[in-house]
Amino acid sequence: MLSVRFEGAGFAKKRIADVAKRLKKVLVKLERSSLDSPFAFASLPSDGATIRSIDAAVSLKRALHPQLIVVVGIGGSNLGAQALVEALRPKTKVLFADTVDPDVLSRIIVQMQDVLRQGKNIVLNVVTKSGFTVETIANFEILYNVLARHRRNANEFVVATTDKGSKLWHLAFKRNFSVLEIPKNVGGRYSVFSAAGLFPLGLAGVDIRELLKGASFANRLCFSQKSPAAQAASWAFLNYRKGRTVYDHFFFASDLEGIGKWCRQLVAESLGKEFDLDGARKKVGILPTVSLGTTDLHSLGQLYFGGPDARFTQFVTSHFNEQLKLPSYADFNNLVPNIQKQDLSSIMRCVREGVLKSYRSAGLPYIEARLSKDEFSLGAFMQAKMLEVVLLAHLLNINPFDQPAVESYKRESSKLLAKKKL
Ligand code: PA5
Repeated sequence: MLSVRFEGAGFAKKRIADVAKRLKKVLVKLERSSLDSPFAFASLPSDGATIRSIDAAVSLKRALHPQLIVVVGIGGSNLGAQALVEALRPKTKVLFADTVDPDVLSRIIVQMQDVLRQGKNIVLNVVTKSGFTVETIANFEILYNVLARHRRNANEFVVATTDKGSKLWHLAFKRNFSVLEIPKNVGGRYSVFSAAGLFPLGLAGVDIRELLKGASFANRLCFSQKSPAAQAASWAFLNYRKGRTVYDHFFFASDLEGIGKWCRQLVAESLGKEFDLDGARKKVGILPTVSLGTTDLHSLGQLYFGGPDARFTQFVTSHFNEQLKLPSYADFNNLVPNIQKQDLSSIMRCVREGVLKSYRSAGLPYIEARLSKDEFSLGAFMQAKMLEVVLLAHLLNINPFDQPAVESYKRESSKLLAKKKL
């Protein structure tokens, strides 16, 4: 389940509530959104047609009994699915090709070849909203070629997830790939609950209906009077106004690191903007970071406790699936006292409580979310985070859905490729 607590420096509840009042109108728009509206992502969890088309595609490809699913995408087109695969560890193995690093891709090819040589099947899912992202198309061409060398009917194993009418969409029909649509008004980083995320997750064995139930639950909660998303956005806004420009997502559960990376992309691309909605050059931006407890306390802790007051933090805590008790050797007791016979998770809990206590004593601002490592909770957390970011963008008077600066590097790279300069 999802619970959010606010702690630490500075802002009286009333101040947060006053800022949150400014979000009422936009919350109503979000609540009433449909796939045709600019806030389309908010309506995905309850969109029956989307889930039906994904179910049909999952059933079709499940009949091939794939031993491996390879997702080719980048940024918003694969981070959501990747985060959920890492957190939920479904039955079927899923690999993500999201870089044009030949060493990484070669390792994926080796794994594909192993499966194919054993006579087993692979589903290759290329996910690109635009349909022409250089990295994705380059990787797809290479991996499709691997598949085609081993299977005459390679096209049967390919699913293209893209915008209706994109270049990839047309190629997919020509080649007879299965095609899934990303709704026009759903941008990459808001697409985890569209076919972009749900198809590979469903095929791998994740309970996608539970994910959507969790996301719908977050919608109901966040559209209510006490909206945790509105409160978190208001709290973040007040921190930003106080000069704190780093938003740390600090997970006390290593399996959730991918969720942290998904949050990082969502915050960075949605909130880093040169111009505001009135066209004024404002250079707005919050640097999102991801920390892992307890690991990163031994690399970043000194900076966090001793460095500048530039950061606000969301701690995320979860349960653990495993129990591991320490043994009890009499002569080990002097190494570290009070840990023998303890469960590792209770050591983790003590460190976490110690960190929170130190944050409170140092007046470092934080909110705390608690969730389970299951579909419902993670669906709720991700939906609440998307709503928080959109609400924060509203307070900052910026557009959370575009990424003009990223487009400029893409243009430059394409020009260089055309000249074959490098
Ligand atoms: O969130 C976004 O919009 C981006 O990160 C895109 O997902 C990313 O650039 C990939 O784009 P596309 O899905 O068009 O390949």
